[in-house]
Amino acid sequence: MTTISEQLEARRNEARLGGGQKRIDAQHKRGKLTARERIEVLLDAGSFEEYDMYKTHRCVDFGMAEQQVPGDGVVTGWGTINGRPVYLYSQDFTVFGGSLSESHAEKICKVMDLAMQNGVPVIGISDSGGARIQEGVASLAGYSEVFYRNAQASGAIPQISMIMGPSAGGAVYSPAMTDFIFMVKDTSYMFVTGPDVVKTVTNEIVTAEELGGAGTHTKKSSVADGAYENDVEALLDLRRFYSFLPLNAEVSAPHQPSTDDWDREDTSLDTLIPDNPNQPYDMREVITKLADEGDFFEIQKEFAGNLMVGFIRINGETIGVVANQPMVLAGCLDINASRKGARFVRFCNAFNIPILTLEDVPGFLPGTSQEYGGIIKHGAKLLFAYAQATVPLVTVITRKAYGGAYCVMAPKHLGADVNYAWPSAQIAVMGAKGATEILHRADLGDEEKIAAHTADYEDRFANPFIAAQRGFVDEVINPRSTRRRIARSFELLKNKKVQQPFKKHDNIPL
Ligand code: HXC
Repeated sequence: MTTISEQLEARRNEARLGGGQKRIDAQHKRGKLTARERIEVLLDAGSFEEYDMYKTHRCVDFGMAEQQVPGDGVVTGWGTINGRPVYLYSQDFTVFGGSLSESHAEKICKVMDLAMQNGVPVIGISDSGGARIQEGVASLAGYSEVFYRNAQASGAIPQISMIMGPSAGGAVYSPAMTDFIFMVKDTSYMFVTGPDVVKTVTNEIVTAEELGGAGTHTKKSSVADGAYENDVEALLDLRRFYSFLPLNAEVSAPHQPSTDDWDREDTSLDTLIPDNPNQPYDMREVITKLADEGDFFEIQKEFAGNLMVGFIRINGETIGVVANQPMVLAGCLDINASRKGARFVRFCNAFNIPILTLEDVPGFLPGTSQEYGGIIKHGAKLLFAYAQATVPLVTVITRKAYGGAYCVMAPKHLGADVNYAWPSAQIAVMGAKGATEILHRADLGDEEKIAAHTADYEDRFANPFIAAQRGFVDEVINPRSTRRRIARSFELLKNKKVQQPFKKHDNIPL
């Protein structure tokens, strides 16, 4: 006779087997971990507490009454990552292809409700054939229940999506409403309509990978924020990423003690800016030299490289960095960079993460493709996001701050708290050459005169002191001292409070 404990263990083991060993082997053969193995890699050892392990679907059509698998294709519950709690769900492709039934959706909604109630983030691991075909509208309703919660949770708790298999059809819209999406190369894809439908409707022949693989979404569409070689690499880096985030919108990100001296000077920064203003340098070097232990978690590394965004720590505190990259498009702001920057600034502001802006921007990218594509509206997103941000804002102008881009990139006038400039900064309406050609049109063709006008303009404007005279720059600093300056500033700004006028919500130019 078996004991009650043995019976319980037998039931648990049945649930743990999901769709059976054959399907587990098939999952492994594709280079994918199972839903439970993924949880094991992601969470601290022994911390996972599973809910609804025995829950099954209620469908009786298409012979489904005889096909009951405990758990119904999704593993849900909570655990810890480096000791900090997280709710999660992990779809089990071995059970009906991880498809979403009414019960499956109820399990996801339960952990989302608990997460919102308890102020704890949610991580969703997607590996699913979409709506459970046998259930029809019941499964569609389940999706909408999840979507509703994604919207409710947005800005209240961080939501992170890890795409580790198919995510097709309307199923893509749950990840799309979360804060960050990460994908695994070659084994995951996201699209609203698959290659077959695309072929039927538009005659385009495209593979699933080309249509919605990690490469497409990290380089072209910007739907995804990062891509990894395999499941283990992705989940281990997610553990690292999680450490930068606060649990909810009412608390700060965790302090991480560092052995890196907060007032460390870096003399190499003094000589980083080339003498020739048209010569690029690598702003990523500035970021890593300012960061605790050089640790920079970059978001959307492969998209709109002219603007880098991501998380660092300074003196143990999480800081969101927005930085122009002179190595790509000379650091110009374009549609893609504006959208990328705006969304990042909004995330940081929603979750109390102070923002450091490193500025070297010659302006907005000119051209018909930009104007036709709506750079006016997209550029306004970044402007709006900064203007609305109430978290501590520190800006360092390393070189160019020209024109409209100066107005957008967290100047004092938009509410930035502390604005520094390196001695190499040039703050003006435009570059010397362009300015001279407009101001002295009559002298065009007379090289000597034009050279003299250009030199005069450079003398007057290619420096940070005119802005400093007006108080638009608080201090011109030695590049080597930047880390100490910004660490002190952020420390002082910790209790910043800003009064906002009453509104239901803003109307950011979407
Ligand atoms: C029920 C499903 C299923 C689904 C897969 N399965 N998708 N069962 N509902 N949506 C089952 C299969 O029958 C199979 O069962 C097992 O999962 C594995 O599927 P395979 O096809 O053998 O795997 P693979 O070759 O890897 O192909 C995976 C796949 C394909 C690309 C995801 O299964 C597929 O195209 N599925 C349908 C996708 C789809 O059109 N979904 C609806 C989208 S619309 P056995 O028993 O053989 O293991 C949608 C609406 C959402 O989602 C609306 C929200 C707004």
